[in-house]
Amino acid sequence: MTDANRRAVLVTGANSGLGKALARAFARDGTRVGMLVRNEERGRAARDEILAATGNREIQLFVADLGNQREVRRAAGQILDRFERIDALINNAGTAYASRCMSPEGIERSFAVNHLGPFLLTSLLLERIKSSAPARIVNVGTKMETAIDFDDLDWTRRRYRMMQAYGQSKLGNLHFTFELARRLAGTGVTVNCVFPGIFRSNLGGSDGAQGVFWKAVDLLLGRFIPTPTRAAERVLYATRSPDLDGVTGRYLGDRCSIKAPAQALDPEANRRLWAISGRLVGFSQDPAASSA
Ligand SMILES: NC(=O)c1ccc[n+]([C@@H]2O[C@H](COP(=O)([O-])OP(=O)(O)OC[C@H]3O[C@@H](n4cnc5c(N)ncnc54)[C@H](OP(=O)(O)O)[C@@H]3O)[C@@H](O)[C@H]2O)c1
Repeated sequence: MTDANRRAVLVTGANSGLGKALARAFARDGTRVGMLVRNEERGRAARDEILAATGNREIQLFVADLGNQREVRRAAGQILDRFERIDALINNAGTAYASRCMSPEGIERSFAVNHLGPFLLTSLLLERIKSSAPARIVNVGTKMETAIDFDDLDWTRRRYRMMQAYGQSKLGNLHFTFELARRLAGTGVTVNCVFPGIFRSNLGGSDGAQGVFWKAVDLLLGRFIPTPTRAAERVLYATRSPDLDGVTGRYLGDRCSIKAPAQALDPEANRRLWAISGRLVGFSQDPAASSA
């Protein structure tokens, strides 16, 4: 089999936690793996470790801060140059910020990284994913009963709270999943969102969100919390199980659908976030317009 024909999977946030466990599992399968990371040094270390563990030499590194649209565009161009097919895209990267800060484009960073980055990356890769169909897009979400405040996406009117900003930006993953699934109906590309459960992680660690309290909790209770490898099983199921052939627009927990927050079940809210996101990344044309 030539490399061009080989099954290829792209994982974001692939140097740590869940993303690294996923990249390792796909590499073990003999899949071509694209690892998108924001820090080249951490990315290289993870890639070398996975290569040593699996012997798979078809692991490519792409570097981009998902909160920086210029970097996302550059990485998407490199991915399109190197991957003639993309059988699965796993939007896994995520983070939390202890205090309100802004992206280079002047957008609140949790929203920019956790929602807009995956929206932009997926949109830029969409034609390649469609031409690789049957293909899957899997968004890694979280489970919080919350709602996006469309009138204050940047947290200018409300007092910034880390977990609320994180939860609302991650709810964006669900709105995005449902709207994209609707737009891609009939293309052979499925889109689902997975809640991986609570597991051991460095979430927000590089962004200073893990204060002394959470570090102490981790120290005391860490060994009772599932590992990222365990959490990866849910995402691997969503990405490669034949049970889900053709299944799209679902919010999945442990191999079954789970209840989404009310706002994400409102098609109008999904369309609204889609339109806002398109404007914020500067699209003049809708990336999934042909199937909208
Ligand atoms: N852990 C849990 O209990 C839990 C529960 C529900 C959902 N999740 C979701 O699971 C996913 C993976 O989280 P994890 O727990 O495995 O955390 P993690 O170990 O911190 O991994 C997160 C990954 O995202 C990357 N990342 C963060 N900000 C980025 C940016 N601006 N641009 C590009 N990449 C960036 C990180 O890179 P660096 O290493 O450079 O920081 C890291 O590779 C996240 O979407 C999270 O919301 C986690």
